[in-house]
Amino acid sequence: MKILVIGSGGRENAIVSAIKKSKKETEIYCAPGNGGTAEIAVNVPIKQDDIKGLLSFALENKIDLTVVGPEIPLSLGIADEFTAAGLQIFGPDKKASLLESSKKFAKDFLRKYNIKTAGYESFINFQDAENFVKQKKHPLVIKASGLAAGKGVFISENAEESKKILDSIFNGKIFGKSGETVVIEDYIEGFELSYMIVSDGASYKPLITSMDYKKIGDGDTGENTGGMGAVTPNPYVSENLVNKINKTVIEPALEGLKKEGIKYKGILYAGLMIKGDEIYVLEFNVRFGDPETQAILIRLESDIIDLFLSVINENLKDYKLIFDDNKSICLVLASGGYPKDYKTGLEISSNGLQNSGRTETAEYEIFHAGTKKINEKYFTDGGRVLNICAKGKGTEIADIVYDIAEKINFENKYCRKDIGKIYVRP
Ligand code: GLY
Repeated sequence: MKILVIGSGGRENAIVSAIKKSKKETEIYCAPGNGGTAEIAVNVPIKQDDIKGLLSFALENKIDLTVVGPEIPLSLGIADEFTAAGLQIFGPDKKASLLESSKKFAKDFLRKYNIKTAGYESFINFQDAENFVKQKKHPLVIKASGLAAGKGVFISENAEESKKILDSIFNGKIFGKSGETVVIEDYIEGFELSYMIVSDGASYKPLITSMDYKKIGDGDTGENTGGMGAVTPNPYVSENLVNKINKTVIEPALEGLKKEGIKYKGILYAGLMIKGDEIYVLEFNVRFGDPETQAILIRLESDIIDLFLSVINENLKDYKLIFDDNKSICLVLASGGYPKDYKTGLEISSNGLQNSGRTETAEYEIFHAGTKKINEKYFTDGGRVLNICAKGKGTEIADIVYDIAEKINFENKYCRKDIGKIYVRP
């Protein structure tokens, strides 16, 4: 079976690795891929936003299944184009992807279907937005409505700060078209949780729970990032809470999508805020989370190709989604300076480490994120460079990932020191 995975991060390396574990015979391509996917797939130098190029490649090479990692190709309608050309693709269509690519669409959708979310207004010009924030109690959350690579959300403490943020978005155009509409919402304090399900448009299945470490610094301090690590299961999430999320968020959202004429096929990732007994939706993503997926997929026991096909063929209810009963952890090794400025092109040395291995009680796997392979050597090629993952029953999994992190070297290597501390490393 010929499979094309689109994307170039740790998430895509983990997806390729999960596909590789299938019993089916596969020939895997990754566009554009990274240094890690180069080891187990054929990297194809086509960018994730070049939908025409990807489609030509898939048609010419008779690709049987395409799996989309990131949100950009989905927001550009890759699923619509591939489906229209008679190709099988895993990922929601363009209209469904508005849930992530337009914060305004998502908020209006939540309001329409009575799914709890913070109070909000949306604006298309600086003056109206400024007048609004002047009379609002702070803190407030200010969001660029369009895609902004995780950088489009600000928490503002006062009207002066809000004015500056709005000025930079509307007048400074720091997010270009993505900032043409701005959503301003009430700030809700609570604990944040990401929750993913997979849907075929008719039924859905939850993935195991996970926790993402969003901030750059230990103890969740400093700038927001794409994610500096993840653990599964999420130690704060009880079965009761999962049931409540399904009943009050996931099921009404999938029903609402149906009413909007959208058959939702793919991963739905809900970013939630839990405050007392209330569950608020902060955002939706229409794809696998990164780095949560790396920690989740190393625990997947059932065949991931069958999962993708069952979604495409709308028979997910017959697919047995099975995860093992381990705990898992994913530690992100980043380039110093991330999420702001950082260098790339730095040589990575791993002192002979294998990309995967096992001890008596645990297994580990290293996924590449921002890396490039040149003449059998690896170089940094992004802010988040490597993802070191391990699974097992106890605290040793955190020791393993931190031991491996010690062995890998590149200039200005950085990682948080508290990933998994909550429960796997008390
Ligand atoms: N880890 C957060 C995200 O994938 O959006």
